[in-house]
Amino acid sequence: MILRNVDTSSLPKDFIWGAGTSSMQIEGGHASGDRGRCIWDALGEVPGAIKDGTGANHRGVEHVEMLETDLNIMKELGLDSYRFSISWPRVQPTGSGAFSEKGMAFYDRLIDGLLERNIQPNITLYHWDLPEELQSIGGWANPEVVDLFSEYSAKMSGRYGDRVKYWAMINEPWCVAWLGNLTGEHAPGIRDLPTAVKVAHQLVRAHAKGSQAVKSESPHVLVGAVNNLTNPMLIGPSTAENVKDLEIVDGYKNRWWMQGMYEGKYPADLVEIFQRETGIFCDENEIGDVSYGRDWIGVNYYNADVFKGGGNGAELFPGTTSIDGAGFGKERTDMGWSWTPDGIKETLIQVSQKYPDIPIFVAENGTCYNYGPSEDGKIHDVKRDEYLARYITACVDAHKSGVNLKGYYVWSLLDNFEWAWGFEMRFGLVFVDFKNKMKRTLKESALAYRDLIRSFRS
Ligand code: FCB
Repeated sequence: MILRNVDTSSLPKDFIWGAGTSSMQIEGGHASGDRGRCIWDALGEVPGAIKDGTGANHRGVEHVEMLETDLNIMKELGLDSYRFSISWPRVQPTGSGAFSEKGMAFYDRLIDGLLERNIQPNITLYHWDLPEELQSIGGWANPEVVDLFSEYSAKMSGRYGDRVKYWAMINEPWCVAWLGNLTGEHAPGIRDLPTAVKVAHQLVRAHAKGSQAVKSESPHVLVGAVNNLTNPMLIGPSTAENVKDLEIVDGYKNRWWMQGMYEGKYPADLVEIFQRETGIFCDENEIGDVSYGRDWIGVNYYNADVFKGGGNGAELFPGTTSIDGAGFGKERTDMGWSWTPDGIKETLIQVSQKYPDIPIFVAENGTCYNYGPSEDGKIHDVKRDEYLARYITACVDAHKSGVNLKGYYVWSLLDNFEWAWGFEMRFGLVFVDFKNKMKRTLKESALAYRDLIRSFRS
């Protein structure tokens, strides 16, 4: 299967084709004094935390300096939309008090540059780069940070709401809570279950309160949540206990966030587990009014969560007792992640059955293959081409089955800083030569995506 040949003709003509990035992964700039430090800068100073040894002062892929180049690449690809995040410490270096005019002017340039090229901006307000000062008062576990996030959100909405229609509050809060505070693999690198539970609760509140703040300045914009939703599966023989555990995983990955953010309710099974394991009661009455942040649903999807029976429960999902993580299939990406294109279809269908009236976007989907230039100078990333072809086909099928799918964003526009992996894992449509002035080269998959968009429009 080949990406440029995927039949997209059944999708509505206003379907949005996009690509995404996030601030910390591409911008760089704390060492240059252009932004305040964030929790990922701090993690970069912990020996061994970033697998390729990338430290605090990395330059991202110099997106700030190369803004015009990147805008022109997006134009060349024919994107309808670009999803990016605002670096909170760039626009408000310490996360409270004074805002930086220079930082805010950067996003003016980005947004205006997109609009001049007929590309719709789609903003995410938090993609993991919390100002370091806010971590020193407890980070997301502290409800004061939710209040500060709302102030920052209002300010951004006041500044950019005249030009940006689509807003997301927090990218993949599951990762923020659990990878940041239980396994410590992500910043702030904490390993503490009670902290993770508090963060999970405050992030749902932050979505509600932050979206209200966005709407207070720009009532006409569309606000949604972007979650990494999934279809947990069991392989091999299973018991009733295994099945119950799978339901708990579904609670952690899907129901906690979707019910919390879109319904203002928490799943009772998870509330009970959290109380039992930590003594902390997450009171859904504290979530607040969720009616401002459910104009659209963002689904990030890479692969299914696959388990087998056995073991004492999966570490990442406290409360499970009888399942173990399992690999799945022979086809693996360079991250070791499996290919489960059917799963994106299944997940989209499940979401749309629960929330039939809310438009859905695939806000991230893509893959890591570390191809470099061949002798002909081209980057023949055939596996990415095939992966995207299969997943986009599954999205088209989901739409045919009735899913209210409005758009699809490839992760990522550019090779970039892949969090705890550093620069060693490449997800980009565009190759970045980290050793040679960050030179950009369109991979073959980028050209195929461009052609797919062109033929969709013709
Ligand atoms: C997602 C993140 C994104 C990127 C991809 C590969 O979980 O939102 O920043 O790292 O995974």
